[in-house]
Amino acid sequence: MSEAALDVRDLPRNEAYAQLHQQVRAVLRGIDDPVSAMATISCLLHQGLGFLWTGFYRVVEPGSLLRIGPYQGSLGCLEIRFGAGVCGTAAAQRQTIVVPDVAAFPGHITCDARSRSEIVVPVFGPHGDLAAVLDIDSEHLGAFSDTDATSLQHLVRGFATGWD
Ligand code: SME
Repeated sequence: MSEAALDVRDLPRNEAYAQLHQQVRAVLRGIDDPVSAMATISCLLHQGLGFLWTGFYRVVEPGSLLRIGPYQGSLGCLEIRFGAGVCGTAAAQRQTIVVPDVAAFPGHITCDARSRSEIVVPVFGPHGDLAAVLDIDSEHLGAFSDTDATSLQHLVRGFATGWD
């Protein structure tokens, strides 16, 4: 199937995410492959909302190590330890972290110096296991709100439940 990425930057955020979620489901219907899902979601979120960096860090050693997965943006750091930076903290706590100002987050890992704010959302697999984290960076301070957090949590639930 061929489908262009939507540009939803002019919509209210909850409506933008509703449209992106619908497109993610349409593209991934019948595809049970987490790497394909990560690539598709990275593309559609990145193109749709114009973020600086959008992608996934996968759990390669449970409780210990994250490694880069599919992403869009500038070169990402390859590996992040649980507990390190925003990604490793979200992974260790199994919780979403919204960082309005990365300079104020102790231990923030800088991959792209243009990043000003960030959100990291845990991704759970079908058995409740932490499979990855979704990491999004913006060039703007305070780019992410509770709407982003709840919408992205809802979106990545497909990794546990499927996309149909
Ligand atoms: N800033 C992240 C590192 C990943 S890059 O932003 C792509 C962190 O502190 O974990």
